[in-house]
Amino acid sequence: MDYMKKWLDRMGEIFLIDIGIGQNHSVIDFGCGNGNYTIPAAKVVGAGGRVYAIDKNKESLDKLMQRSEKIGLKNIKRIDVSEGIKVSLQEESVDVVLLYDVIHLVGNRRKLLTEMHQVLKTNALISVYPKHHQEYMNMELDDVKEEIKSAGFVFERMLYKTLMHDDYLEQGYVLNFRKQ
Ligand SMILES: C[S@@+](CC[C@H](N)C(=O)[O-])C[C@H]1O[C@@H](n2cnc3c(N)ncnc32)[C@H](O)[C@@H]1O
Repeated sequence: MDYMKKWLDRMGEIFLIDIGIGQNHSVIDFGCGNGNYTIPAAKVVGAGGRVYAIDKNKESLDKLMQRSEKIGLKNIKRIDVSEGIKVSLQEESVDVVLLYDVIHLVGNRRKLLTEMHQVLKTNALISVYPKHHQEYMNMELDDVKEEIKSAGFVFERMLYKTLMHDDYLEQGYVLNFRKQ
């Protein structure tokens, strides 16, 4: 079974719709890697929406753009960043931020959360897949939840979902918050 094909064909879109992404949304996929969430998100938001694919790894972004061009997606905007995080988008302009399998790699998580808070619209969604929180961050899921709440987000719900990790499917907990 080609799980990546299944994910990119439809499964990823169904997952992201369940999470809360809709048509015409403006989405940030921070730490997007080669686009396992960016590509389905671009399909869900459609021509009237946009996905900002943000990463510090140029090669991953190159691969993502090649994948998206191959299937004709025109609504992904690549943003190359350094470790410094600054994303330079308009304040209160974004409907959804995805932080999937990335927070354990970010040195200054508070800065990241503050940046994301600034660019999100009021009541907009921030969805976090805190993979590796125990081994890399020495934190339980509840600690992660509290850290994100302390940056000005209200916890909405936790979902146990099948999702794509690198190139295989796995089950995990996704945490959804809203900007206050
Ligand atoms: C494990 S991959 C996850 C990719 C994707 N979110 C997924 O779940 O398939 C983590 C990605 O975050 C990026 N990353 C880590 N720290 C970052 C930072 N401070 N700024 C931007 N990107 C970062 C890495 O370059 C890598 O592409």
